[in-house]
Amino acid sequence: MPSSAPIGVFDSGVGGISVLREIRARLAQESLIYVADSRYVPYGEKSPDFIRERSRLIADFLLAQGAKALVLACNTATAAAVAELRDLYPALPIVGMEPAVKPAAEATRSGVVGVLATTGTLKSAKFAALLDRFAHDVRVITQPCPGLVECIESGALDSGATRELLNGFVEPLLAQGCDTLILGCTHYPFIKPLLRGLVPDSVSLIDTGEAVARQLQRLLQARDLLAGGPPLATRFYTTGAVGGLQQVLPTLWQDEAQLEPLGLELT
Ligand code: SIN
Repeated sequence: MPSSAPIGVFDSGVGGISVLREIRARLAQESLIYVADSRYVPYGEKSPDFIRERSRLIADFLLAQGAKALVLACNTATAAAVAELRDLYPALPIVGMEPAVKPAAEATRSGVVGVLATTGTLKSAKFAALLDRFAHDVRVITQPCPGLVECIESGALDSGATRELLNGFVEPLLAQGCDTLILGCTHYPFIKPLLRGLVPDSVSLIDTGEAVARQLQRLLQARDLLAGGPPLATRFYTTGAVGGLQQVLPTLWQDEAQLEPLGLELT
């Protein structure tokens, strides 16, 4: 596997672009391929079996493109599918997301932490194991956020409707004393400014995109797979409407001027 090979990144939709940005910031020499499984977004309420099947198909596509590493830039897909993908491709560096329970438990002063995530993530065995491991001394309140991913997919990052929906999720957490909020879905960093405006300054907002980029760097370094650059232009694929992705990409990616996403049929 040449070190100049691309890194394959995927998500149910555009949320994983928040992670892609962290990867680009840390690993500027790397070529990147991104797949948005927009035909099936959101993953949050879908069955683990369905998400595993989608994840396998996307991983196979990315490997066929020559990917030297995979990033599951989706908390829900990671919870459902990362173990299986690691079994299928034991030699491949694979990085997934997880809600930042450990850093949040360390950061909270009130002892109450809120987790904003999808139902799929919050119901997963992986999330239960995280709580078992890191949340002994804190109270963790989970909050599923149905509808929020759809707002972000449509590009409504600061609309009144998105604000109202988000406020409905956050208010009960604040009322119960949360001083630390975990953004447990890769879509949510895109509405961090909106969220910041809804919570007091004393509330910490924690997401894992940067930590994931660091972990990816460590894995590539350990295998002598870091690219020397210069990178090829980032390639974006979507299983949904190309026009939809094209419309939101300049706002979400903010990197290369010419962005032409490609359609992808994966069944
Ligand atoms: C979703 O597709 O519902 C959200 C993706 C995520 O959990 O990061």
